[in-house]
Amino acid sequence: MDSQSNSPHVLIFPFPVQGHVSCMLKLAELLCLSGLSVTFLNSDIIHRRLLRYTDVVSRFSRYPGFRFETISDGLPPDHPRSGNRVVDIFDSIKMVTKPMFREILLPGGCLNSGKRPPISSVIADGIMCFTIDVAKEMGIPIYLFRTVSASCFWAFYCIPKLIESGDLPIKEDDEMDRLLNEVTGMEKYLRLRDLPSFCRASDLSDRAFQVVTTETQETYRANGLILNTFEDLEESALAQIRKHIPNLYSIGPLHANLKSRLEAKLTSPPRSSNSLWEEDRTCMTWLDEQAQKSVIYVSFGSMTMLSRDELIELWYGLVNSRKNFLWVVRPNSVAGDGQNIPAQLLEGTLERGYMVRWAPQEEVLAHPAVGGFLTHSGWNSTLESIVAAVPMVCWPYYADQQVNSRLVGEVWKLGFDMKDICDRIVIEKIIKELMDTKRDELMRPVERMMKMARRSVTKDGTSYSNLNRLIEDIKTSKK
Ligand code: UDX
Repeated sequence: MDSQSNSPHVLIFPFPVQGHVSCMLKLAELLCLSGLSVTFLNSDIIHRRLLRYTDVVSRFSRYPGFRFETISDGLPPDHPRSGNRVVDIFDSIKMVTKPMFREILLPGGCLNSGKRPPISSVIADGIMCFTIDVAKEMGIPIYLFRTVSASCFWAFYCIPKLIESGDLPIKEDDEMDRLLNEVTGMEKYLRLRDLPSFCRASDLSDRAFQVVTTETQETYRANGLILNTFEDLEESALAQIRKHIPNLYSIGPLHANLKSRLEAKLTSPPRSSNSLWEEDRTCMTWLDEQAQKSVIYVSFGSMTMLSRDELIELWYGLVNSRKNFLWVVRPNSVAGDGQNIPAQLLEGTLERGYMVRWAPQEEVLAHPAVGGFLTHSGWNSTLESIVAAVPMVCWPYYADQQVNSRLVGEVWKLGFDMKDICDRIVIEKIIKELMDTKRDELMRPVERMMKMARRSVTKDGTSYSNLNRLIEDIKTSKK
């Protein structure tokens, strides 16, 4: 082995869906910028889509220590891998991918052979705790990365207590607005209806519920936990988590952390996209033609499935608000309707709206014409909105989003939580409040939080220094 044999080499292994891969790629780039060697392990199918729709390969080619590797997620190519079928990916990875992962990590396996230094640390997605067993067997330190908010992680962590107290499973006659005493630190605002979506199953056998509960409880076995959040935003939840998992790195917002470090190194950092769909940039030209803060941006992330009725209610709410809107309707995201958006929607949007299948979201949110965001409250979208100082109307769909939208509406006051309601009259009213009547009141906390988010990633900011600590720990951790 050459002189590199002792230099740190990190393996990053994300759960293969958009919201996980894109932010773990940002983490990968941050580690590359600090001079670490990084191998990014993608599922075959995700990697093909990244190659098709992005410039990641050429973008990362400027880091000599970086390389991609691929592995099968074990599912047939035509599996939808979205909506409530996402949990199939988890089961298949655990069954089919785990033994392959072990094999390639063994000495002589493709991750640990030849010219590159051996893997000295693993950063794996925290919903794939089987990676802890494999890394421990090889004697490699392992850090887990969770893509959810600290508050949501903490709510997940408290699920066993909620079962013990009888709060879960939710019963038919339960009052959904009842506050929960068992989620310490969140007792004043977290209601039964704000628990992650899969807590609503009438029994506890729901697969997603079991997966998230088990994986979260396993976290303590790793060498540390990395979260895409910042101290000023989630101080209280982070403090609760630290009581159980002391080695915690809050390094977000990752996209802002990366931007800040790239700007310190390069005079004009290139535009970057980690999208698994083709970005339609014509919407940027359309935005250029709109008045400042006049447009509401509508996007429900990478996994939400709308029913046809929901699509129509949302559309009427938007059109009746008489605001301009830019709406992302992802391919195959309307249940039972294939790719076809009802004709009346397309006709109606000609006047005030613009629809695309996938947008360059970070750029859209940063555009001066955008004044509001109707969002599903995915954690990446929430952080992107915070950094861009765009107030939100939250319509959470799945998993962690129910928790996030409660924080946005009730705790941080960065927008309104429209949870469990999809009604054209309510949507119209809330959009008008967000864009007009309650705007000034909203913009004070929105601007304040934006400043704190941006400060956290500057030199001496908490996320900046936590990332440096993570890098140091990776550099000094020995196999
Ligand atoms: C889900 C969870 O809800 C989320 O909380 C978790 O952290 C990851 O898995 P997803 O539904 O994909 O994520 O939402 P979100 O976390 O908001 O991520 C979507 C990403 O896609 C964002 O980074 C957003 O910028 C990007 N996006 C979305 C685009 O680039 N273009 C679009 O048109 C829509």
